[in-house]
Amino acid sequence: MNDAQEAVRLDATDPLPTLRDAFHIPPAPGGTYAEAAYFAGNSLGLQPKSAARWVTEELEDWSRLAVAAHTKGRRPWVDYHELAREPYARLVGALPHEVVAMNSLTVNLHLMMATFYRPSGDRTRIVIEDSAFPSDSYAVRSQAVHHGLDPRRTVVRLRPREGEEHLRTEDVIDYLEREGWHVALLLLGGVNYLTGQLMDMPAITKAGRAAGAVVGWDLAHAAGNVPLRLHDWDVDFAAWCSYKYLNSGPGAVAGCFVHERHGRDAALPRLSGWWGTDPATRFEMRPEISPPASADAWQVSNPPILALAPVLASLEIFDRVGMDALRAKSERLTGYLAARLEGVRGLELLTPADPAMRGCQLSIRVPDAAGVVERLAATAGVIADAREPDVVRLAPAPLYCTFEDCHRAGAALRATLDVQPHG
Ligand SMILES: Cc1ncc(COP(=O)(O)O)c(C=O)c1O
Repeated sequence: MNDAQEAVRLDATDPLPTLRDAFHIPPAPGGTYAEAAYFAGNSLGLQPKSAARWVTEELEDWSRLAVAAHTKGRRPWVDYHELAREPYARLVGALPHEVVAMNSLTVNLHLMMATFYRPSGDRTRIVIEDSAFPSDSYAVRSQAVHHGLDPRRTVVRLRPREGEEHLRTEDVIDYLEREGWHVALLLLGGVNYLTGQLMDMPAITKAGRAAGAVVGWDLAHAAGNVPLRLHDWDVDFAAWCSYKYLNSGPGAVAGCFVHERHGRDAALPRLSGWWGTDPATRFEMRPEISPPASADAWQVSNPPILALAPVLASLEIFDRVGMDALRAKSERLTGYLAARLEGVRGLELLTPADPAMRGCQLSIRVPDAAGVVERLAATAGVIADAREPDVVRLAPAPLYCTFEDCHRAGAALRATLDVQPHG
């Protein structure tokens, strides 16, 4: 059996058969293949076929019922965000009242920091990773400025050791033990957007909280990628977007987690709006807010129904599969792709080799990343993305990527880099 036949066999016999048919797979550029081998789900996930129905039903209710759809639609808009609550809670390992679907990711990070970044005395620092996504860097710097602090002194960027690519858990913990009394907020990516490193969230959260800091996680690359237990890990807050692994469409409504110990605390300062008051009295139009004892207290505006409908379509799929089964498949698929990349000369794996330290993304360092991505698409219909100057990211999202896709990507990379296997 050759490698291509082996990939077909793996697809046919995997304990979790692909859900590819539930998604619109884009046509392959280049003309050789009918369908793309899509490895950019870490950037924008594919469209579930059911999404159109969910959106269309809301458009229909709008045309048929107009304002009455708020209360009389088939899914009344006034409570529409409630439909995401239980599936989001299952996805991130939270109690239902600890999660809420709202806004977009960076906005949610700001809303969280408005409450949880309370610099005082010697405890003013915000700690992020040096390779944090730029939006997070901008957000934390602007938070420091809002408190009248100098971001150059307030924001600490943790770097891997000299000559290493990944932050070591023990180094993060060591920093927190030494300098933790200065740290007001620790805000890291659960899975790093560039390297694909999966952080040891429970250990780091524990160390951060023991040091007296608030611990928040940006789960943009973790939600829908790896199993999460935010409640049990005692995370203070977390936020994620839903357009990557959650396949909910560009700019779709994001998610937010606030641990119940904070949800219960009505005295916390928040940036408030009318959707953050108790729904039982919301329409009494009182000037004072009565926040519910839940993450909902951080809602500001009424939800954008048309941007939330595809989230519900997608979460239905995640509920059908379950994160544990998906993670198991993801490890098989990513391990297979990693094996296809082994021995390709001129290619360096940036992502940890240990499956426990990564999600499904493999980042590779190659010369001329943008050119490689273009050639992968043109020659083999393989869609990946480049991060300048030398990183190509490939994410075999396990809901719709197949072993055959991985085989195709490996072969295309080998051909693209025009190198021979070692030995
Ligand atoms: C790790 C991370 N954080 C934040 C963002 C910004 O997300 P948004 O534009 O939804 O606020 C992204 C976007 O890709 C991201 O990857």
